Amino acid sequence: MSEVHLCEVGPRDGLQNEKTIVPAADKIRFVELLAHAGLREIEVTSFVSPKWVPQLADAEEVLRGALERAARTPAGEPIVLSALVPNEKGLERALACGVRKVSVFTAASEGFTRKNINATIAESIARFEPVVRGAHAAGATVRGYVSCIVQCPYDGAVDPEAVRATCERLAAIGVDELDLGETLGVATPDEVARVIERCAAVRPASELVLHLHDTRGMAIASAMRALELGVRKFDASTGGIGGCPYAPGAAGNVATERLVAACRERGYRTSVDSTALGEAASFIRRALGAA
Ligand code: HMG
Ligand code: MG
Repeated sequence: MSEVHLCEVGPRDGLQNEKTIVPAADKIRFVELLAHAGLREIEVTSFVSPKWVPQLADAEEVLRGALERAARTPAGEPIVLSALVPNEKGLERALACGVRKVSVFTAASEGFTRKNINATIAESIARFEPVVRGAHAAGATVRGYVSCIVQCPYDGAVDPEAVRATCERLAAIGVDELDLGETLGVATPDEVARVIERCAAVRPASELVLHLHDTRGMAIASAMRALELGVRKFDASTGGIGGCPYAPGAAGNVATERLVAACRERGYRTSVDSTALGEAASFIRRALGAA
């Protein structure tokens, strides 16, 4: 049976856009429950400016707590606990907490890049160059996100060629992993497939990560289409929570529990235990006051 690797982004992408600011202790408990449910990679927080994303201003406390309580499975296997870093300052903060994987993030459209990180795409790549070098020197690996792979909230439709070009630029500065973000959650499976086919020229589909938001309820269908094209790595958010504060109208990520079930139905294995994942989903819904 073929294996699908899931990266849980609920603690970061999920919580960055919620009105409720969840206490650090509950965020750490959420990560612990996700690890207990079998997730082997969890994006824990962001070392961004607290003025831009106040929901994650407690990044140090949360990452340290998560590393203390959820860095290994009961069998002693490592769990990857990662964090977003927009610049060298973010990297320094994350490394001081002991992070082993960081994510830089840019986009295939200029409008979103400006609103999200106050830079052009070219400036963002130049900003990431020392971040990638510094992370590697410290023994950490680097994911590079490309947002707006189909639609940008400010510039409209995005050409798959622009996505490939941003992937190329990230690959050229040495990122270890490329993650394609359908930030608005509005794409059709065909549109997502066209982007994957184009980006497979930069890295094989089996190495690309697909990060789907689910505003129009098509994310599962897109993920299943991506599986047919050879994609085996997906981001997802337990409870389907979240969105991006700088992408107005975008809903949360595809729900981890739905993606796990869809993979299983089609004969793909994941490391996740659905019953334990349900406990993590109930916990975070309660913490957000939605249970
Ligand atoms: P800027 O205002 O241009 O930054 O923001 P700056 O370098 O001019 O610094 C301004 C102030 O911010 C200074 O403080 C810096 O020290 C501070 P002051 O002197 O005014 O007191 N600062 C920081 N503080 C803490 N940590 C840092 C940091 N950097 C600067 N790392 C910046 C530029 C990139 C910082 C800002 O735009 C930012 O933080 N943006 C983050 C936005 C964000 O987190 N968006 C959501 C994540 S992306 C996403 O959700 C998409 C994704 O899920 C994929 C998808 O769905 O497509 C990944
Ligand atoms: Mg996202």
